[in-house]
Amino acid sequence: MVACWQCAQGMVFILSFGFIDKIVGTWVVFEGIPLWLEIPILILLCIFLYIFVIMKLVRRFWQFPAPAFIGRGLNSTHRKRIQPPSMIVKGLRLETGMSVVEIGCGPRTFTIDVARAIAPKGTVYAVDIQEEMLEQLRNNIQKMGIENIVPIMADAGGRIPLDDGLADAAFSVTVLPEIPDRVGALREIHRVLKRGGLYADAEFVIDPDWPLRRTVKKWASAADFQYSHELGHAFRYVLVFQKT
Ligand SMILES: C[S@@+](CC[C@H](N)C(=O)[O-])C[C@H]1O[C@@H](n2cnc3c(N)ncnc32)[C@H](O)[C@@H]1O
Repeated sequence: MVACWQCAQGMVFILSFGFIDKIVGTWVVFEGIPLWLEIPILILLCIFLYIFVIMKLVRRFWQFPAPAFIGRGLNSTHRKRIQPPSMIVKGLRLETGMSVVEIGCGPRTFTIDVARAIAPKGTVYAVDIQEEMLEQLRNNIQKMGIENIVPIMADAGGRIPLDDGLADAAFSVTVLPEIPDRVGALREIHRVLKRGGLYADAEFVIDPDWPLRRTVKKWASAADFQYSHELGHAFRYVLVFQKT
């Protein structure tokens, strides 16, 4: 652990001061970019790496829900360009009239697109552990006049207050690793799904909690899910599982 930390620090130090050329004899990081531009880019990259490594370490020992004040950032257009809600709609093969459970809905980022995809008769049950996040969701759905979203305050790591086999599909985006008992939460999702129902988990590398695909597959398999298909790539993926 200490060695990893020191390696990361060493790497950041080397990159920050542009010593990479002394090591490999040439500017390999951003070939073709002038030095005056390369140095600020490297410094920014290093600041990002520093924050990322520190956050990763903190999150490893201290798990807590993402604070509600980041709601605005979660819902930004830039983020939606990188992690488009259409990936969930496509991955879950959503159709009008379906019942969908979202775990850790946050302010609305994916909830509204999913609600539109299953409207007018389908319903999204939007579950979150934080009242402040649900408050943002309620404000957003009220402003947009959307009627097929039911906000539910619950801890997905405990019991979701929904009947067995109620949902045609379920999903979570950058939520699972925040839940200390991930397999327990996946078992709850499994319970509320109909037989044959799909569950999608989406993750993105920029999240300090980002897990490898094989880790999510291991959690899902421990909760009796069967791997179905996936979208995206290793750093920004949607993994889809089925309740068989
Ligand atoms: C990083 S945010 C992601 C929000 C939204 N899915 C998105 O991608 O924009 C994680 C969300 O999961 C919620 N969350 C964390 N732990 C939870 C739990 N045990 N049960 C339900 N929701 C949880 C947090 O309150 C937060 O809204």
